[in-house]
Amino acid sequence: MDNTTHDYLSQSDAVKARFDKLKQREVILEVKGLNKVYKSAQGETTALSNVSFKTHRREFVCVIGPSGCGKSTLIRILAGLESYSGGQVLLDGKPVTGPGRDRGMVFQGYTLFPWLTVRKNVMFGLEMNGMSSEEARREADLWLELVGLERFASAYPHQLSGGMKQRVAIARALVNQPRILLMDEPFGALDAQTRCKMQAHLLDIWRNVDVTILFITHDLDEAILLADRILVLKANPGEVQELIEVPVPRPRSVDQLFTPEFIATKARLEALIHPPASIASDEVETVKPHMIRFTNVADNVE
Ligand SMILES: Nc1ncnc2c1ncn2[C@@H]1O[C@H](COP(=O)(O)OP(=O)(O)OP(=O)(O)O)[C@@H](O)[C@H]1O
Ligand SMILES: [Mg+2]
Repeated sequence: MDNTTHDYLSQSDAVKARFDKLKQREVILEVKGLNKVYKSAQGETTALSNVSFKTHRREFVCVIGPSGCGKSTLIRILAGLESYSGGQVLLDGKPVTGPGRDRGMVFQGYTLFPWLTVRKNVMFGLEMNGMSSEEARREADLWLELVGLERFASAYPHQLSGGMKQRVAIARALVNQPRILLMDEPFGALDAQTRCKMQAHLLDIWRNVDVTILFITHDLDEAILLADRILVLKANPGEVQELIEVPVPRPRSVDQLFTPEFIATKARLEALIHPPASIASDEVETVKPHMIRFTNVADNVE
């Protein structure tokens, strides 16, 4: 192999050793033959078909796949917010039957309570669970410090930027000390620069907290930058295409975007998600002859 090409399956000794260690850790989440069929007046949609995978303690797993392949369905099932049609979901070996404090959630939309301060938002779950206000406040302040927002504890959500709101959402999810953090495109609404900062920040938090993360994203760079392994789903029905062990060494940073390991992994993900045939049939032929009237400039601008 020359130094311009790299096989995404080949791992350095250090990366291999890391994966060996990771796989020896206990299994936190096990999904076995998961099926989900939505029934509606329009008919049946198989959103997930025979999906199986495991995550180990303190593992960071990203899920990617084309729109409609069932990513949000999967995470809602894991959160206990959606029923499933077949298969098994085990958290610490016990079946998931509904929502629980052992799972923290962060979604794309900002889901903070607008009428509560940042601190009160983080305290909310603890107080609901019977913790005294004083203790909840101490806990909340600790987690706000971890996400770098202690100075904003008394602010209201509308006074924060999008990135800051998502940091509060992360603190609010982690304050319950969940076994797994479920994140559905949490940085999807942020601008590129803030998104980049949030990725580094999340890796920093994950390094310091005993939590397993399942993170859904559309962004291939984001998945490679964050994940130990990437679960690639395909659509119609949503099935597992491949579970990729990311060969890029840790600690990760954007400086690795152009390393051979990164490029090889991205090329593999591109091939799985945007196979060449779909470009030929779906994307190139979108301009129909009757649309030519949208321009009266005769020459080709390209
Ligand atoms: N409540 C529902 N009732 C009926 N069908 C649904 C429902 N929710 C999702 N679906 C269908 O299930 C499939 C998977 O949807 P899902 O939202 O899980 O996809 P996704 O991978 O998260 O997509 P995106 O990348 O656009 O967020 C789609 O075909 C969708 O139309
Ligand atoms: Mg979705």
